[in-house]
This record gives sequence, C-alpha cells and structure tokens, in this order.
Amino acid sequence: MSRQKITVVGAGNVGAATAQIAAQRNLGDVVVVDIVKGLAEGKALDMAEMSGVYPFGGQVRGTTDWAATANSDVVIITSGVPRKPGMSRDDLLATNAKIVKSVTEQVVQYSPNAYIIVVCNPLDVMVDVAGQVSGFPKNRVMGMAGVLDSARFAYFVAQELNVSVGDVTGVLMGGHGDDMVPLPRYTSVAGIPLPELMEASVIQRLVDRARNGGIEIVNLLGYSAYYAPAAGAVRMAEAILQDKKAVLSCCAWCDAQYHVGGAYVGVPVILGKDGVEKVIELKLTAEEQQMLDASVGRVKALVAKVREMI
Ligand code: NAI
Ligand code: 2OP
Repeated sequence: MSRQKITVVGAGNVGAATAQIAAQRNLGDVVVVDIVKGLAEGKALDMAEMSGVYPFGGQVRGTTDWAATANSDVVIITSGVPRKPGMSRDDLLATNAKIVKSVTEQVVQYSPNAYIIVVCNPLDVMVDVAGQVSGFPKNRVMGMAGVLDSARFAYFVAQELNVSVGDVTGVLMGGHGDDMVPLPRYTSVAGIPLPELMEASVIQRLVDRARNGGIEIVNLLGYSAYYAPAAGAVRMAEAILQDKKAVLSCCAWCDAQYHVGGAYVGVPVILGKDGVEKVIELKLTAEEQQMLDASVGRVKALVAKVREMI
C-alpha cells in the first residue's frame, strides 16, 4: 500500500515544526514547499537525516517546485507573513490573501482531491480565501485554531489543578482572536465538569489567558508561536488521514448551524476520512450565542473586504 502524502506549504517556523511532527508521527511522506530557494530543501534534509537517529516511516523532502506536491492527500498552508510594526491590518490581510490565493491555485492544479488545512492568519478569513479560490466542497477546506486555543486552555487548567493535561477536554468556538468563545461548562477533567472543580473567578482568569495565548508568546519571543500550532495542524491531518472521527474545535463552514449564515468559523466538528464530517451543535446560553454572533460578525466583515481583493 502506498504511503499517504502530506504537503506543508511554508518552511518557516510553523511549517517546519508541522513537517517534523507529521514525519515523527508516521503520517506518511511529507513534502515541504517554500518560495525561498534552499529553505524547504535544507530543513527537510535535516529532518530526513534525523530519521537516522529516531527512524520514521515516510520520506521528507523540501522543494520550490509544486510538481513535487502532486496528489497530496492533505495540504497544510502555513505560508503567510505575521504582522510587523507599521503594517495595518489591511496590509496584512492583502498580503496573506494574495499568498493563500496563489498557493491554493497550485493545490487545485496539483492535488485536486486534497483536504486543505489553513493555518495562516487572520485564520478564519484565510480559510475563506482557500475555500473561494479552490471551489472545493466545504468539508475539504478548514482551518486550525481551535485545536491550539483549546490545547492552551487545557494546559492552563491542568497546571492550575495539578492534573494530567490528557484528562482535560474541552471545546472552543468563534473566530481565532480576542473574541474567541471558550465554553468552560463544556470543559471537563476526566468527565468532571470544570465548574465543579474551580471557582468562576479562576476559570475566568484561565479563559483570559487562553484568549491572550498568542500574544503571550509573541511578547516573550518577539515572533509568534509554532510548536503548539504545528501540533494542532498535525492532529487535524492525522484525524483525516487515519479516519479517527476525532471531535475537535476547527474552523469549518457553517450555514444554519449556530445561525452563522454562511462563514468559516470555529466550531466543534467530527474530523474523519471525509474531512469535516459533521458540525456538532451544542446548546448555547443566550450569552454564549451573543459572543459567537459578535465573533462571526467580525469574521464576516473581514471576509467581505478580502473577497473584493482576490
Ligand atoms: P514564518 O515567516 O516563519 O514562515 C512563513 C513562510 O512562508 C516563510 O518561510 C515564507 O518564505 C513562506 N512563504 C511565503 N509566501 C509563500 C508562497 N507563496 N509559497 C510558499 N511559501 C511561502 O511564519 P510562521 O511563524 O511560520 O507563521 C506562518 C503563518 O501562520 C502566519 O500567518 C502566522 O500568523 C500564522 N499562525 C497561525 C496560527 C493559528 O493558530 N492559526 C498559530 C501560529 C501562526
Ligand atoms: C497564535 O495564536 C499567532 O495565531 C497565533 O499563537
């Protein structure tokens, strides 16, 4: 049986870490593609040599040539610039939208049956670009943010309670930004609802920290996080490639669900061999629904702007 093929677009911080984790978890053959000559080639060769220490099953190769990505099962798009001083939000939107558009056109040409996982920011809007440009069915286009945001929240909860992080599960909704909608009452520790284990004020502190999880790392490093984001992207790819039917918070297309009315936003979904197989509809309180509506409204406004640009 031939191995499955994963293309990682962008050999920067997130892309390289994604390729490494995917290779080490034996997801299949990994192709890393970047526009900077030598970058993907060098990092991929270094990773491939790592298999001489800790062997893994697939090949890892880097390239600037999209032909090498042909017939990928999953394409993870990490190629995008982070915001720099002096750049407006619109500058960032325009730059990344252009990159995601051109990359998606290559995906359509070389891997017309692939599942696309977008990582670049602003996340929900870039997923829309990939969706629009590819014309792929909605179940095959999605974004990684909720896996990261809920992992951060789970980690903070585990630290606070001094329990195993593997015992903490939860969901998170909305756009990837300050207005994400954590759902502590749907978070549990080995099945015990979080509100039974923590005071509301402590939960709120951890929610705020998760909301600001991205900027906390930026303030420490001067650039953005990549280990946990890469792990999030690989977790999604693995769920699809291995038909895990995993319940994860992902940026997925919603129409009637949660009254979204047609947008890619963060929701709990079932991920399996058909990509986003189902959006799980939770009963939200009026306050939660209001927070989600506000988040969706902001995503839609940016999407409208970007659709005029591409
Ligand atoms: P980076 O700057 O380290 O890497 C980006 C790479 O993309 C560079 O190597 C660049 O040469 C490459 N690239 C640019 N245009 C390209 C093209 N047309 N084709 C192929 N490669 C191209 O940036 P980093 O830290 O890896 O972040 C990547 C993106 O992911 C950013 O937009 C960042 O904001 C976002 N991000 C999203 C997260 C999430 O939770 N969704 C978490 C962390 C980062
Ligand atoms: C993060 O949450 C920057 O979106 C990125 O770390």
